[in-house]
Amino acid sequence: MPSEEAHIFVPHPSVSKNAFVSSSTQYQQMYKKSLENPEEFWGEIARQFHWETPIDNNRFFRYNFDMTKGPIFTKWLDGATTNIAYNLLDRNVRNGHGDKVAYYWEGNHPDDYSRLTYKKLLEEVCRFANVLKSRGVQKGDRVAVYMPMILEAVITLLACARIGAVHSLVFAGFSSDSFAERILDCEARVLVTADGVWRGEKLLQLKNICDQAMIKCSKEGHNVETCIVVSHLERVTAPKGGVMSRQTNKTPMTDGRDIWWQDIVPQASTSCYPEWMQAEDPLFMLYTSGSTGKPKGVLHTTAGYLLYAATTFKYVFDYKPNDVYWCTADVGWITGHSYVVYGPLANAATSVLFEGTPFFPGNDRFWSVVDKYKVSQFYTAPTAIRSLMKFDDDLVARHNLSSLRVLGSVGEPINPEAWMWYYKLVGHEKCSIVDTFWQTETGGHVLTTLPGAQPMKPGAAGFPFFGVEPVLLDENGREIKGEGEGYLVFSKPWPGLMRTLYGNHDRYELTYFSKFPGYYCTGDGAKRDADGYLWVTGRVDDMLNVSGHLMSTAEVESVLTEHHGVAEAAVVAKPHPVKGECLYCFITLTETGIFDDQLLRELKTHIRERIGPFAQPDVIQNAPGLPKTRSGKIMRRILRKIAVNDRDVGDVSTLADSSVVELLFQTRPANA
Ligand code: PRX
Repeated sequence: MPSEEAHIFVPHPSVSKNAFVSSSTQYQQMYKKSLENPEEFWGEIARQFHWETPIDNNRFFRYNFDMTKGPIFTKWLDGATTNIAYNLLDRNVRNGHGDKVAYYWEGNHPDDYSRLTYKKLLEEVCRFANVLKSRGVQKGDRVAVYMPMILEAVITLLACARIGAVHSLVFAGFSSDSFAERILDCEARVLVTADGVWRGEKLLQLKNICDQAMIKCSKEGHNVETCIVVSHLERVTAPKGGVMSRQTNKTPMTDGRDIWWQDIVPQASTSCYPEWMQAEDPLFMLYTSGSTGKPKGVLHTTAGYLLYAATTFKYVFDYKPNDVYWCTADVGWITGHSYVVYGPLANAATSVLFEGTPFFPGNDRFWSVVDKYKVSQFYTAPTAIRSLMKFDDDLVARHNLSSLRVLGSVGEPINPEAWMWYYKLVGHEKCSIVDTFWQTETGGHVLTTLPGAQPMKPGAAGFPFFGVEPVLLDENGREIKGEGEGYLVFSKPWPGLMRTLYGNHDRYELTYFSKFPGYYCTGDGAKRDADGYLWVTGRVDDMLNVSGHLMSTAEVESVLTEHHGVAEAAVVAKPHPVKGECLYCFITLTETGIFDDQLLRELKTHIRERIGPFAQPDVIQNAPGLPKTRSGKIMRRILRKIAVNDRDVGDVSTLADSSVVELLFQTRPANA
């Protein structure tokens, strides 16, 4: 029986009985093998996939994590060739899964839904791959994607993979400025988007945002040559009923550059020979925030990513052939890439692809979708759980959730209250919760418990996945063995680790490998308890995690100081009951700046436009001065204390002017 007092919950027998990994002992045996004999461990997995050029065991796995010994690199299965789309589609169809549903698509409006089998997905991917080729896209070219959660998003990614183009999907919540910056960085000449999408009752005009981004790119001398637009709004129900025709929506289309998907894809051929890719050829890039402000184009390659996404999906969600799996993450984030697209398809899984929000048409939408499709694995973020916890329990209880077996959490540490609510109300104390710690950079889960194997502790990520060797280091780079807290680093690569930052290998080495030579540095802290469980404590750098969206303080600060009224800005994270963290901004005005409602409105709008709506600050405080050291460095530690009104600020002796601290405490805004 689970014992809440001990805060440790043993997997329910109904979960562990048939699980792929059903005990701690079995996990340990497999884990040991994965570290001691990676060739055998990953080789067995690799044999399930198709290799056009066979794997060369002499070049199975090589790496260098120590900058003093030469350039940092990781290579898996070097010399082998394959194609991911072929493995995800043709191979599954050949193995008898052609008529199996790959995706149940559930629209924003409950009246809109459809399904796509593996066979049909293969055909659609081939069609679009042929279209991309006809527009001049070749192996190695980057394709920018700005899509909602529709089937064409998956089709686009796999079409790129089929012809060896590198997809660069940008979350369709980023502003046109952010999107333009990313298109310019990867020099994409083809862009794929949709006219718009309903999210709850809100209409997002995606093509307009793309147009603004393309104008900005042109001003910088880079022209997007082809923009393919899915006509989506005319085929879905508006929140209050009815549809929006192409005529009423008036999506602007530029002759010669913009084409409707529906005008070009249906007539393309349903067969397209795959491009055989080298194991280490790029598969995709995905931007993540960097602590210096400029986004980093994390690059993932072919063979290792395939193995890792496939294996983590199988074991962490314990996916079985008749299960229906649902990950609520947007395809624009790494969670969407690895666990909406690549991981599930590599396992011939059936997934739900959900376009809407948890709150439309009612606050029980998630639970009604679980019930509708009889979902067995449900994967979401703590911020979503916290935002749903505040409603009446009956909204959950009124739905039949008995199909659920595994509940996943990702994006930030899950607080024990949210964990317990998830476990009891959603999981009926029968489901296993997997708290999966990972990053855009890691490609897949690196720390988690496995659903049938280990007892769960609310708030603890747990143990390393196969092939992953976590280490805790102190400030001086000394290893902390046993119980303790330190920097979370990894001493060797697993197949899914990113290989470089697009176009900037120096920054890759500097960001991830320079602090502790010989280790990949996550930027997170973690502690290990007496039972060996790892608890991720959060970022140790100047990064913020707002509702699971990672952003850098520098990024927000530089946008704030673009306003003529702001001379200087410092941004810190403040704990928030639903978002996990929110933005607390301190601004020092210029001589002409006036701190009034208009300025606050302008700054908020500016941040929405430059970064995206999710980066909107909760608090902006007027700071005539900022706490700085004599060398001019802002002491964020003190600002974090002011943000939470905690006067225990510690040592202020290194400050150039300590009186500013008291002033900032006294002038905290009423909404702080
Ligand atoms: O700080 C950690 C936090 O999210 C960061 C990675 O963010 P991103 O690259 O956007 O990827 C998010 C989805 C994988 C990490 O450095 N994080 C992610 N998952 C967890 C987490 N922190 C604690 N527990 C988690 N389960």
